[in-house]
Formats: sequence, C-alpha cells, structure tokens
Amino acid sequence: MQASNNGKGTSGTIGQPITYEKIPTQIFADSKEASYAVAKEISDLIRQKQKEGKPCVLGLATGSSPKTVYAILVRMHREEGLSFKNVISFNLDEYYQMEPDSIYSYHRFMKEQLFNHVDIPKENYFLPDGTVPAAMLRDYCTSYENKINAVGGLDFQLLGIGGNGHIGFNEPGSLINSHTRLITLDHSTRAAASMEFGGLHNVPRKAITLGVAPILNARRVVLLAWGERKASVIKSAVEGPVTELNPASYLQAHADVSFVVDESAASELTRIKTPWAVDSVIWDNKMIKKAVTHLSQTLKKPILKLTDKDYNDNGMSDLLAQYGAGYEININVFNQLQHTITGWPGGKPNADDTHRPERAQPAKKRVLIFSPHPDDDIISMGGTFQRLVDQGHEVHVAYQTSGNIAVADDEALRFIDFVVDFNNGFGIDSPNASKLFQDAKDFLRHTKNSEIDTPEVRKVKGLVRRGEAKATCRFVGIPTSQAHFLDMPFYETGTVQKKPIGEEDIKIIENLIEEVKPHQIYAAGDFADPHGTHKVCWDAIEAALQRSKHKNFMKDCWVWLYRGAWAEWDIYEIEMAVPMSPDQVLKKRQGIFKHQSQKDGVVFQGEDSREFWQRAEERNRGTAQLYDSLGLAEYEAMEAFVRWKF
Ligand code: F6R
Repeated sequence: MQASNNGKGTSGTIGQPITYEKIPTQIFADSKEASYAVAKEISDLIRQKQKEGKPCVLGLATGSSPKTVYAILVRMHREEGLSFKNVISFNLDEYYQMEPDSIYSYHRFMKEQLFNHVDIPKENYFLPDGTVPAAMLRDYCTSYENKINAVGGLDFQLLGIGGNGHIGFNEPGSLINSHTRLITLDHSTRAAASMEFGGLHNVPRKAITLGVAPILNARRVVLLAWGERKASVIKSAVEGPVTELNPASYLQAHADVSFVVDESAASELTRIKTPWAVDSVIWDNKMIKKAVTHLSQTLKKPILKLTDKDYNDNGMSDLLAQYGAGYEININVFNQLQHTITGWPGGKPNADDTHRPERAQPAKKRVLIFSPHPDDDIISMGGTFQRLVDQGHEVHVAYQTSGNIAVADDEALRFIDFVVDFNNGFGIDSPNASKLFQDAKDFLRHTKNSEIDTPEVRKVKGLVRRGEAKATCRFVGIPTSQAHFLDMPFYETGTVQKKPIGEEDIKIIENLIEEVKPHQIYAAGDFADPHGTHKVCWDAIEAALQRSKHKNFMKDCWVWLYRGAWAEWDIYEIEMAVPMSPDQVLKKRQGIFKHQSQKDGVVFQGEDSREFWQRAEERNRGTAQLYDSLGLAEYEAMEAFVRWKF
C-alpha cells in the first residue's frame, strides 16, 4: 500500500505542495474502502511469507477501528482461500483484571471478530493474560515481549488511536522507550469504553499493554482512524511535535509507518481543512463557501465585512484574482447561506421556490423520518418535525431499532411491576405477568454485568422505549398509526456489539418506503462512525433507496440528512437550516423529556456528561450563533440538514 502523501517536513520544494505532515497519511473516502486496502496489505504479506516458507508475525489491535479489516480478512479466508496457518499473532493489550471469556475481554473480541473464523492454529495467537496475579505481572510482561522476539519480531503492527493519542494502552505520559507493563487507564479512555461496559463504574481501571518500544520495533506499522472524534488527535500526531502527551506522535520516528484514515478523521489536517493554504485548489462553489466561512470565523468578522486585504493576507489571493473584488465573493457566499434558511422545511406553498431549499409543490407532502433510536427524531430534528406537522404535512416516523440496551434494569422492573399491579387492581387474572416479574427480578438480582439480558427483559426494555416514542408522537401531534416500530434485527444482540446488516433489515426499510411513498425522507447521516448504530441504520436506508430509486414515486422524493446528538454539519455543507424561536426550543425540550428512561443519567452516557436535551439545545444554539457571527439573521436556535442525492 502506497501512502498518498509521504512528505516528511514542513517546507515544499519548487513545484510541490507544501506539506505539514510528518507521517505518511492516506485518506480514503470511507472506512470500508480504507479497511479493504489494509486487509489487502495484510493478506499480501501473509501470502508472501507463505511463499518464503516463513511465519508471518502480526501485532493486532481491538476496538472499533480494525473490525472491518478483520471482517474482510475472514471473507478472504472463506472466499479466496487465504490461509492463516503461518500466522503468529500478538495482541496489544487486555484489561486487568479480566477473565478471558468475559463479554468485555479482548480475548473474546478477537475470537469473535477473527480467530474463530479462520484457520489460525490455537497455539499461534497470544493476548496478554488479564488474570495473572499482581506479584507475577512484571515477569509475565517481560516474557510476553520475549515471546515476540523469539519468533523474530513483529512483521506488521496494526494500531488504533485513542482520542487522547494512546496507542495500545500507552496513555499520554508513556515514554518512547516504555516496555510491556501494567498501566492505569486515563479517565478519558475509561469514559470512551463506558458505552460498551454499560457505565463508567464497570470499566476496569488498569490494563496490560505492549510498550511503545516494541510497537516501534515492528517492521511495518499501520494506524487506523475513523470519524470526526479522531480528527484533532490525528492532526496533532501527524503535524504536531513529537511529545509524550500524544504517544501516537512517536510514530513520526518510524521508518515504515502509514496512517490510514477516512475523510472525517482527516478533516483537521491542514491540507483538508484549509487546502488553499497548501496547494492551488479548484474554486468551485463549495470550496469558496468553505474558505470564506473559515476566513470569517478565523478573523471573527461577518462575511460582508471581509476586505481584499483579508483575502490576500490569508492565502486566498488567487480566488480574489478570479473574482476581481472581495465584495463580489462576500455577496455570493452571503446569498448562498441566506438561501439555506427556511421556516418551511416541507416547502412554502404558493411561493417562488427558486432560492428555497425545498420545493413548493406538492404543497402537502408525505414525510418519512427515520430515527435510528426511539429518540433521535425529537433530539436531532424536533423543531423541524413539529413544523412539518404544524404546516399540515403527513408525517410518519420510523423507529429503526428498539433501543432496548439503553434502558436501566430498575426501569424495566418498574414497568413490569406496574403491569402486575395494574392487572391486580383491575381484577385481570394474568399469572404470566406475575411470573415474568418474578423471573425478571431473580435475573436482575443475580445478574453479573458480563451477562446478556434474557429475551423477556430485553423485550420489556424495548417496550419502555416504544412507549416513550409514542408519547413524543402524541406530543408533536401525529397519530401513533404513523409511528412505525421496525425493530431491525441487526440490533437485537443484547450487547453493544451488533450484527452486520442483513437482507431482512434492508427489506423492512424498503417495504416501509414503498408503503408510505414519501416526498421527503429525513435520516440520520452519521457516516463517520463505522460501527455505531446510526451508521448501520443509514447503510440499510441507502441500500433500500438504491433498490427503490427507479420506482416512479421515488422520482419525486428528496432525502435530507440530519446529524445525531453529537456533532453538527460543517457550516459550508448545510443546505437547509430551520430556525427555532425560544418557545419552540422549550417545546422541543419537553418533547425530549418524554424519553424518561434516557434522562437523569443514562446507561450509555459515554464521554459527554450532558443530558440529551442539553446536547441538542447547545448544538442548535451553536448553529444559530454561527449564522449570526457570519453576519446573517440572529435566531435562538437552528436545526441543520444536508441533501443526499441518489
Ligand atoms: C485496542 C487498543 C486501543 C484502541 C484505541 C482506539 O487494542 O489498544 O489503543 O486501538 O483505543 O479504539 P477504537 O478503535 O475503538 O476507537
């Protein structure tokens, strides 16, 4: 695999673009394409070693980043005869204390993702043992590294990167010559893992990790990073100084390393964020919008106040030369942004729609909102949902997954208890309900957090969330017959790890689109996180749209994407911005409050301690403030959308 930019240093030679990158970094359109390139490199290496009659020694990582690489390797084994008989592998790390068969162990992860599906001999793969007694740890760690050296060292090391720059579990502060050892995990690492563990208190405080020195000793190193959450740490590792505060920056010293990233993880790199500062660019509308909004934000000046000097001083003189005057550029971008703002997300009837984001006709549209979890509709686009209903459109909501893993045990018990009391109170004889209650109580009392809920408990938890979604629909004003609960099968594993989407998932979506025949579809467009539920939900919608796009009714259907609770679209990408008044913001908050099981501390809080309504309000206010600071009208809050064309 060749890296697309392997400059080392910060100054360009004549005729070559300047590069700020000190680590060869290859950017792919998406994580799937990138994972394919990495899997191909690994399989080529395995085959080459086979030809030479030698073992292939791989250093392997866990986490969400390498999962697709493993899935592709498994497929290559099944379909292309790729054998792992000559592979010897060493994993980077394991939590401490951790039983190998726990659902949270990296042992189990590796078996489920790779080892169980290929022909690697059992005696050929090694992971640090999370059960070694404390007194023996030091010797154990030395022997783990010795074992790697005894087979000739690592031919290839696969890495992910933590949001704090850790590689393996070498947290910030780890030295370049550190060896395999027990390490205390950073709070941010534990918080990131808390989603998987169902709460911070369940996440181990320590782990055994291969040191930085043995990682750097690998003959080849490839580091994967997907999604915008990794963008700033990638920028500092690739462009910043070598520092123990970002252990991934140590890789700048490696002779054969590549960072393989998707567009979102690359988004903070200078050549992506401000490409005009690095090389000549094609000034299409989108690039102009990106550069001008960036300039306006950097200088903290409204767009209409930017001067020729501002353009010249900030690497945009060629754009100026093309237009003649900064003022022309200002007006162009200002108008483009102005035209994204509308209080009529379903189109304004009887109005000229030339410069509006949506069509005026048909005046009454059928709208289908896809909500990956039961509360994404109201959290991410509650103001727009309300407007669409108030403006007389026929709005349907499709709740794609049950969301059952995010309900606390207590909450489930409370509801079963209610059913038993309800039945008793009204003289309804229902021994089944009482038995369910007793079984659930027994299960939840004895359950360890490494166990998966029983199907009954999962069902109850799903119903709790269904009830909340119905309450939101009533609150916004649509009949519950227009709320469609899809319970997509890929989600129903009872754990954070989901199955890949299958035919059944896609068919469910395809059938609903066929039934509703929508003029507008809204969907969560979180493309960055390759394994998150939102991305999988979108993949199913996209597959269904590709199948349906030739149907007649689809010719009249526009697809709008919103972002989940975590991040907003970049300002230059937004194609429709729906403003909200202070009252509308309050109303949306009350709609979010219908989701009581997700309030006051949730099972999967993650790194962000804010409640969902707070995240939504801060984000929507932030978007409005951004428009305001660029010199457009000042609204209380705004929801933003990008149009997806098929
Ligand atoms: C995993 C490991 C970690 C992860 C990193 C990123 O074995 O050592 O360094 O690679 O925490 O995790 P994900 O890929 O889940 O974002």
